[in-house]
Amino acid sequence: MKKIITDTYAIEFESGYDSLNKIIDKKKYSKIFLLVDENTENYCLNIFKDKTNLSPNLIRIKSGEENKNIHTCIKIWNTLISLNADRKSLLINLGGGVITDIGGFSANTFNRGIDFVNIPTTLLSIVDASVGGKTGVNQNGIKNKIGTFYDPKLVIVDTEYLKTLEQRQINSGYCEIFKHSLISKENSKFEYLMDCDEINFSLDIIINSINIKNNFVVEDKYEKKLRKGLNFGHTIGHAIETHFMSSDKKLLHGEAIAIGIIIESYLSKQMYGFDIVKVDKIKNHLLTIFPKVKFNSSSINNIIKVMEHDKKNKDKQVNFILLSDIGKLIFDVNVPKSTILKAFEYYSE
Ligand code: GLY
Repeated sequence: MKKIITDTYAIEFESGYDSLNKIIDKKKYSKIFLLVDENTENYCLNIFKDKTNLSPNLIRIKSGEENKNIHTCIKIWNTLISLNADRKSLLINLGGGVITDIGGFSANTFNRGIDFVNIPTTLLSIVDASVGGKTGVNQNGIKNKIGTFYDPKLVIVDTEYLKTLEQRQINSGYCEIFKHSLISKENSKFEYLMDCDEINFSLDIIINSINIKNNFVVEDKYEKKLRKGLNFGHTIGHAIETHFMSSDKKLLHGEAIAIGIIIESYLSKQMYGFDIVKVDKIKNHLLTIFPKVKFNSSSINNIIKVMEHDKKNKDKQVNFILLSDIGKLIFDVNVPKSTILKAFEYYSE
């Protein structure tokens, strides 16, 4: 039976729904709530109901990163209050990263913490957001600025939900799978993905990817050092995502991170001699999946400004996580602006 054990909870596959029922029997919850958005209500709720036979109270929020904010939390808290939720209530988050992040945060802060379970429905949330215990919301246009560490009771990975997704969403999730292969000490994972004719998100690849993330989390849950490695590609990537958030050309998370990975791989070459052959391979692989995005000097300057707010920064310096080779991470690197500009040129050429 496939199952990944973290320090405090299990990430389960086929056995997940049985385990959910066992937890519910054991804990005797006073009420069960299910957090959905319009997408998961329309496309995933029936799958959930078929597999669990549960009829929880629905809490509906609007989809989209722009709604991952404290106003949506207030709606969730108010709905919980109006439906008489108490400390013995359970919240099940059915959705992508927005749902699992905001649901986890709302659960952590309601009555000083109620139990929650994540059922990720996107590839991105399966391999990243739903595991690792980070919860949070965006604030003042800065991603995940307000948040906590709070573990779910269980994560259920059911790839049936992936059948409801558009290719663009699958690609976005694949970017994190690819990133995990770059930061994993097992070089073969990167080579394997690069050699596949099309993007590979088989169950084995998914399990492997979650395992890579989980190893980082278990060793350094509160991100003192090692866990920062999971942010490879994210210093630039988050800033790019934030930059486009308020425009009509919004990028999905993985689309922004793909650019971040290319740029930060080039920075890795400039600062630590990461092999240019590998950097070029990374760029070519990602550009076959994610169309090139155009940047002008004013957008690059704005992205650099956004980076200055990045939560990993100390003393207003922009700190990068770079690679000297596949799986060899260098932490907290300050990169000159001129090198960042060069890396944007490399991406654009
Ligand atoms: N997504 C990065 C982390 O969970 O630490």
